[in-house]
Order: sequence, then structure tokens, then C-alpha cells
Amino acid sequence: MKKLRMIINPLDKKSHINKEIYGHFSEHLGRCIYNGIYVGEDSSIPNTDGIRNDVIEAFKKIGMPVLRWPGGCFADTYHWKDAIGDKADRKKMINVHWGGVTEDNSFGTHEFFRLCELVGCEPYIAGNLGSGSVQEMAEWVEYMTSDDISPMADLRRKNGQEKAWKLKYFGIGNENWGCGGNMTPEYYSDEYRRYQSFCRDYSGNQLFKIACGPNAFDYNWTEVIMKNITPWHMKGISLHFYTVPYSNWADKGSATVFSNEDYYATIEETMRMEELLTRHSEIMNRYDPEHKVGLIVDEWGCWFNVEEGTNPGFLYQQNTMRDAIVAAINLNLFNQHSDRVIMANLAQVVNVLQSVILTEGKEMVLTPTYHVFDLYKCHHDSTLIYSYTENEKIEGKNYDTISQSASIDSDGKIHITISNCSLDNEFEIDCNIVDTAVKSASARIVTGEVHNFNDFGAAEKINAQDHNVEAADGRITVKVPPCSVIAVEVIPE
Ligand code: AHR
Repeated sequence: MKKLRMIINPLDKKSHINKEIYGHFSEHLGRCIYNGIYVGEDSSIPNTDGIRNDVIEAFKKIGMPVLRWPGGCFADTYHWKDAIGDKADRKKMINVHWGGVTEDNSFGTHEFFRLCELVGCEPYIAGNLGSGSVQEMAEWVEYMTSDDISPMADLRRKNGQEKAWKLKYFGIGNENWGCGGNMTPEYYSDEYRRYQSFCRDYSGNQLFKIACGPNAFDYNWTEVIMKNITPWHMKGISLHFYTVPYSNWADKGSATVFSNEDYYATIEETMRMEELLTRHSEIMNRYDPEHKVGLIVDEWGCWFNVEEGTNPGFLYQQNTMRDAIVAAINLNLFNQHSDRVIMANLAQVVNVLQSVILTEGKEMVLTPTYHVFDLYKCHHDSTLIYSYTENEKIEGKNYDTISQSASIDSDGKIHITISNCSLDNEFEIDCNIVDTAVKSASARIVTGEVHNFNDFGAAEKINAQDHNVEAADGRITVKVPPCSVIAVEVIPE
């Protein structure tokens, strides 16, 4: 077994790891909302106000901090007034982006806030800049957040919600370079400035306004947005990047049937997140050296071909240990860039793309990705500390085998998350924790054959298990099997 050295230095404290980095994304797409999260009050599946109880509990267990909604591309076709009031009277529409199915608007603003309340997470709402008016967006903000006497606050009260909700995160459009209007960055930044002017802070609520950011490597978009919009008007800028093997959008390959070559191509692709975070941050640093504007990776994850026999517009895919490794690598990167990255939202939370949960009728499956989020919750709202691994490259590739990040929490506990993307090599990591007498250490692991996934009606193949770790003299030693993700907790003397 190969040995690698790692150094952790708790004295070298870096940035705060916002728990919102562990956020999620839900869109009116396929079976994410309907028949995923929301089954309706009359369903035989146990629910609270139409929201599945098992899903609520699973979200709570990973400490879901924030949930983005209602899209995605759907957001720029969404007219919020169609989805309030008596459900029988709500307007129906065709979901033009996703499968051409009928959207009955039975899940709207009130239902979304109820979901967030039940889970205990922050709502993050994406407004419609692409096809909606300034008035429509302004009125939505007023409806949700004003406690005054006003037409929209009164309408909300009439619809059963007396008190205004608290809403922090508000996106002004989505992918406005594409499905949200095919705009240039110059045109979008002008529109952004106009729309955001009318999204006001009511009744003590303070909006954290988020501008549509670049599509992956479009550095010019970031440059123009940062130049044209001041931090006074924008608190965050989004970034979208999906992991598609070989960048081949025409044939993204199967989620479960893939060769070793396909696997390593997927990892190579996901590693590009490092370059994206670095280069977009460099642009932001020039315009915003004080870090007033956060980078928000509000769509990321693996995008494969849909499962055979499913609606191509529903983007339903299974989730294997390959997805777990991708999640671990990206979450370590977000931690390492937490001086700029303040939120990230995996796409998408249930039944769409790289989900943490899959449902089929009354059954629910927790995916390998779910278990990685469970391991990594130790980093929520902790402080990033220095970490370094004496690494080695995957043969024939220009990326590291081991990915790691480390943090210290408010109780002084140190958390180290490690992933090994090699399919063959096990490592023994000898970790020196600078200036720290270790009282005790424990670890949990998510591992398995790379094609393994959790399926309906079968025992879980992939989940988090206890793992052995040895601690002595300010060092810990942990074995890291091939294709594994490990979280180590160190309690200092
Ligand atoms: O997550 C699926 C889609 O991907 C979203 O609707 C859109 O924003 C992105 O292109």
C-alpha cells in the first residue's frame, strides 16, 4: 500500500465555510417537485401539507441549509401569480422547457415557503427577468416580504399567510445568456440594474440580490457584469458548470454503465471546477478586492443521459459511486475557495440529474451523493484551515488522486474530508496536525465498487460506515481505499 503524507495546520485559519455551500436546487422539472418532493395533501404517501415526510426528514438529516427554486430555465417562464390562491382556480400552463407537460401550479410560493419551513432551510428564489415584467418581479418581492398595508401584502393575507416571510436570497433571472433571454452581458447588466431597483427591502427584510453569472468558461460575462454592476446593487453572482464526460453534450453516456476510461474522463472534467473558481475569482478580485460580492455556484453536478425508457425532458438519472467522488471533489474545492464561494446548489435535489434522493411511488432511495453530503455536514459554518497532501497524479492524467479539505469548528474539533478517485490504489495517509495533541479521532467512509448504486426494493449498497483511524502524538493515520470518500473528526486535547 502506498503511503502519502498530509499536513493540517489549525493555526493557519483561512475563510469561513458558509453552510450554504452545501445547498440544493429544485426546479419544476420532471419529477423533482411533483411526484418527488410534493405529492399533494390527498396522497396515500405520508405527507405534511402535501410534502413527503420521508423527504423532509432526509433533507433535515443532512442539514440542508438552502434550497433554490423554481428554476432553472423554468424560472424565466414562471408567472408567480398563476400559482397562488385556491388550487382549483390556479392557471395551468405547459412546461415548455421540460417535457411539454402540463404544470397545474399546485405548488407555488406558499407551498415552497412551507417546504423550507419544514426543512429549516433558507429559501432562494429565482425571479423571472427573461419573460416577466419589472412590475411582476417587484410585486412578487412585495407579496412575499411586506408586512405593510399594500396591495400585494393584502393579497398574501387573503391567501392565508398573515405574516410576511423572510426571504434573503433572490436571483434576478437565470441563465440570461441562454434560456433566460439569449442576452449579451452588456444588455443583461442594464436590465439587472433596472429590475433590481424595484426589488425593495420591506418590513426589515433584506434581500441578498444575485445576478446571473457566466456559463462555465465565459470569463467575458463575469468581466462585464463586475464592471457594470456595483456591489451596492449585487451581493452575489452565479456560476453554472455541469460535469459531462468528454464535454460531449450530444451523448453524455449512461449514469450506470461506463468504462474506466469514461470514469476518469468524468473526473478530469469535474476537476475543471478548480480552474473556473480560480479564474472567475481573479476577475472578481480586480473589481471587488474587498470581497463584497460572493460567487454562487447555483448549478453544478453530473449530467448524464436519461435512464432508458424515461421522458428525455425529465432528466432522470441514477447515481453511483462515480457521482459520490464527483461530489466530494467539488465540495472540497468549494471549501478551499470559500473566501469567494459563499453558496453552491447541487442540481437537482430529487429525481433530476445528480440527486441526493430518488423516489418511485412511496419508495425513497438515498443516493451515494446523499451520503457524501451527510459526511461533509461537519464543515457547515466552520473555518477553513490549511491542508496539504503530498499527492500523486492518476496515471496518464494531469490531476491529483487525493482531494482534501480541512476545517475547525466552534468547539475546536478538526474535520478533514478526503477522497481517493483512483479505482486501483489504496493509500495510507499519515497526517501531521501541526501543534496539536490529539485526544481522539474517528472517521466515516462512503465507498464501494464505482458502478454501485442504491436501488428501489433492494438493500442500500452504498452508505456511510464507521472507519478505522489511528491517532498518536499529533498524528493520525488512515487507510483510504480506492474509490472512497472519508470524513475524519479529530478532537484535540
Ligand atoms: O438543471 C437543468 C437546467 O440546466 C436548468 O434549468 C438550467 O438553468 C440549466 O441549463
